[in-house]
Amino acid sequence: MNDGDGVVCARHVSKRFDDVPAVNDVSFVVEKGEFVSLLGPSGCGKSTLLRIIAGFEVADEGSILFKGKDHTNAPPHRRPVNMVFQSYALFPHLKIFDNVAFGLRRKKVPEAEVKQLVHQFLDLVNLPEMGSRYPTQLSGGQQQRVALARALVNRPDVLLLDEPLAALDLKLRKKMQVELKSLQRELGISFVYVTHDQEEALALSDKIGVVNAGHMLQYGPAREVYDHPTSQFVAQFLGEANIIPCVVESVGERVALRAGCGLAGRGQRSHGDYDFTSACDPKEFAHVQNADRQSARHGSQAR
Ligand SMILES: Nc1ncnc2c1ncn2[C@@H]1O[C@H](COP(=O)(O)OP(=O)(O)OP(=O)(O)O)[C@@H](O)[C@H]1O
Ligand SMILES: [Mg+2]
Repeated sequence: MNDGDGVVCARHVSKRFDDVPAVNDVSFVVEKGEFVSLLGPSGCGKSTLLRIIAGFEVADEGSILFKGKDHTNAPPHRRPVNMVFQSYALFPHLKIFDNVAFGLRRKKVPEAEVKQLVHQFLDLVNLPEMGSRYPTQLSGGQQQRVALARALVNRPDVLLLDEPLAALDLKLRKKMQVELKSLQRELGISFVYVTHDQEEALALSDKIGVVNAGHMLQYGPAREVYDHPTSQFVAQFLGEANIIPCVVESVGERVALRAGCGLAGRGQRSHGDYDFTSACDPKEFAHVQNADRQSARHGSQAR
């Protein structure tokens, strides 16, 4: 494994569909055991990026590495990944047990071990008694848990999850979020998790990538991306933000800003330019007003 390549590494990956640039020069690294969320509006290229990593789609440019080894042209079954799709994608004609056993049997794991592992992973997702049912005899949330067990039982280095909880009601979604996070910790598998839900991403992730129109706008530790958005898009997309046009009063080691409403604040100098928009988290807004301190969530963007 090369230093800096992590478990998964996307390098300058691009993909067009006719005239649509679905993924545009995207690079990022996922380390071992990390929970990474990709966030972005509908149609921004999240699923395409996951499909390229999984090998279901071939990139026009760039490369995909696993543990430093180039897999750009490897077929899906030669990659150390499994993918959980938004629409469960269980085999309808196979019982739950056989769905979970599928990958193991393909790898010619001895049947006694298959039996033990399938039971272990159905237990892990809280479905110990469901092995003999068919997928249609399960609720949506139960099917999603089977899909998770089916992916996890293969112990991939990386699990790619494309909005796995989107179809569930809020209560079950919250429950599954907790279960997912503890499974991920327990098994030490890296997760790349696509979601529309900013709160979900912040609650679960070590790192967050914000994608828009095929570009990875910002990628980094979740708290850092939330606290220090580098663009207005990221500030607005990742939670509630008051966007305040400001005039720069003075530029030294720090930048003093004056807003039209008389509100004043100070921020790190991140651009040499002199007009800013400033994003303040509503929770921190009072601090900026009442105390002479920097907003905890203060993204500044030169105009
Ligand atoms: N097979 C395809 N053929 C043509 N265009 C495609 C194909 N797959 C995706 N696209 C286009 O590529 C862009 C990115 O699609 P993608 O499915 O990756 O978006 P997404 O971010 O996953 O969206 P959503 O959040 O709605 O699932 C979209 O404009 C989509 O219409
Ligand atoms: Mg999608």
